[in-house]
Amino acid sequence: PAPLKVAILGCGVVGTQVARRLTEHADELASRVGTPLELVGIAVRDVAQPREGVTGTPLADLLTQDAESLVAGADVVVELMGGIEPARSLILRAIEGGASVVTANKALLAQDGPTLYAAADAAGVDLYFEAAVAGAIPIVRPVRESLAGDQVQRVLGIVNGTTNYVLDRMATDGLELEQAVKEAQTLGYAEADPTADVEGHDAAAKAAILASLAFHTRVALDDVACEGISAVTADDVAWAQRTGHTIKLLAIAERNAHDGVTGIQVRVHPALVPSDHPLAGVRGAFNAVFVEAEAAGELMFYGRGAGGAPTSSAVLGDLVSVARHRVLGGRGPVESSYAALPVLPALAA
Ligand code: HSE
Repeated sequence: PAPLKVAILGCGVVGTQVARRLTEHADELASRVGTPLELVGIAVRDVAQPREGVTGTPLADLLTQDAESLVAGADVVVELMGGIEPARSLILRAIEGGASVVTANKALLAQDGPTLYAAADAAGVDLYFEAAVAGAIPIVRPVRESLAGDQVQRVLGIVNGTTNYVLDRMATDGLELEQAVKEAQTLGYAEADPTADVEGHDAAAKAAILASLAFHTRVALDDVACEGISAVTADDVAWAQRTGHTIKLLAIAERNAHDGVTGIQVRVHPALVPSDHPLAGVRGAFNAVFVEAEAAGELMFYGRGAGGAPTSSAVLGDLVSVARHRVLGGRGPVESSYAALPVLPALAA
């Protein structure tokens, strides 16, 4: 088969790693897919901006400010710009043009996922997004596919690496929140605007995505009760430790009854976790997600939840999957049909 043309949108910490690995491991990836993956361009806002790992390397020749032309000529579009626009329009354009799409854009999926899912379904192309939730950890595919025959009762865990890193540094090294956030930014864990991490919005977006997949219903960002860690002080952290606890920012989605109606409730808030609980041992930017399902029982997923290299692993895994579908035929799952399971009013955190 002819080589597949791959376009990357965005060249931040994740985009750079994906581009690098795609070129460094080109032969191996070609043999896994059955045809070469040809990186045809990387769309950025400003080609002149210096970029670590790109400037002065052959990747610099692939930078372009013309995202629309890049998308128009691609077989697979990998969206790693983040934010709502222009990511949303470019993804829709890619889908309508018949390209397969891989994205890590949790904010967009949480806000407008159903529009994208419906477009991909109508065009008969893949829309994969393993990297949108919990970085390197395979959690989207297990929930979306492996557990599709089971009845999920609860999804609970740590899904934001930045806040976990911050709480960890506050607990073990007595750092102030602001200082720990700066470190998380330097290490490439935080969002462009770290408020999204600190206030829990990033975790809420991931919780909405996971809940939608796990419960086969549509959970919007507004359905998630959300409290971040900005009010957590060094004193709170020290007090928690003295009483045998660790403060963790948890995302929880569960089947519940409310006023006699069974539905889904989703929330994000800091919680006191007993220090001998497995979640208390999740350090640094690691994430951990527990899933409880009727037949499967309890499952636990653990790994690096943020950072360029770990997140690039999930993106490249998706890229190989959608590329294989283009070579061999077939498609991944679609999300455009939803059961009528209601989303209940969010509980106050
Ligand atoms: N800012 C996110 C986090 C990146 O800290 O978890 C991964 O989605």
